[in-house]
Amino acid sequence: MTISDIQAEILKLKKEKDVCILAHSYQAHEIVEVADFVGDSFQLSVKAKEAPQKNMLMCGVRFMAETVKILSPEKKVILSNPIAGCPMAEQMDKSMIEEFKKNNPSYTVVAYINTTAELKTVCDVCVTSSSAEKIVSALPSKDILFIPDCNLGAFVAKKCPDKNIKLFNGGCPIHAAVTPAEAEAAKKAHPGALLLVHPECVPAVTAQADFVGSTAAIMKFAQTSDAREFIIGTENSIAEHLQYACPDKSFYLLSKKLVCCNMKATTLVDVLNCLKGTGGEVLEMDDETISAARKCIDKMIELG
Ligand code: 13P
Ligand code: SF4
Repeated sequence: MTISDIQAEILKLKKEKDVCILAHSYQAHEIVEVADFVGDSFQLSVKAKEAPQKNMLMCGVRFMAETVKILSPEKKVILSNPIAGCPMAEQMDKSMIEEFKKNNPSYTVVAYINTTAELKTVCDVCVTSSSAEKIVSALPSKDILFIPDCNLGAFVAKKCPDKNIKLFNGGCPIHAAVTPAEAEAAKKAHPGALLLVHPECVPAVTAQADFVGSTAAIMKFAQTSDAREFIIGTENSIAEHLQYACPDKSFYLLSKKLVCCNMKATTLVDVLNCLKGTGGEVLEMDDETISAARKCIDKMIELG
């Protein structure tokens, strides 16, 4: 079977079986092409809620499928490949945060959306990379614990100098691996290009960027900018998607290390197998976890 044969079968089956395919923008291009919605983690969960289909197939990582389930518990949510986790989302556990809250009652605990549903149950509010600054500034509390990403947390702390932001030592192993020397070298190799970087990169890399934003914000910036050349400082598939969307512009990779093996665990055949009922994992979450984690997400929607 060719890629287009598999894609045609997927398009037929998703209609027959009332399935909405959600693809995070780090997915491979052939998956993005068959998706109903493509976007960042937050956009996808909002779209899932609005979608008329009763079945949601998440091509992304586990916390994204969980967020869809929390916001739409009545829908059947399938994670396209059960091994696709996000190492950052799983870095901290509930007891660590409960202990911190007990010893530091003045603190509001802010959780990046890249956290497990279980961890969200003990946090006060969620943020995404695009809404973090706005939400943290809007919080009445001066004392903030920002988890798990210390790089996004440091980026927010710089933007909100009136807040006392405490960070733990967590982060995305993929984005955090990019070095300031790589940023310098990429800028030297492409002097006419703008450097666009995700805030999960270390501060010495974001400090060199012309624009810092979420995956969706980076794509929008590149598509609407008058500039012709860009160095992409987030997962490398973004450069590929942008090259298809803007054939007249040039996109360069900031680093060969920017490949998320969890995001890339899903293949087009996995998508087909999920639709045939022979692959993927149907997410099961208890009502208690859903409602406790939901409070944290609802607060994000209220303040975001
Ligand atoms: P976005 O919310 O920007 O899509 O980021 C998700 C992610 O996993 C970044 O590494
Ligand atoms: Fe998680 Fe990093 Fe992969 Fe995003 S790129 S899913 S934060 S490991």
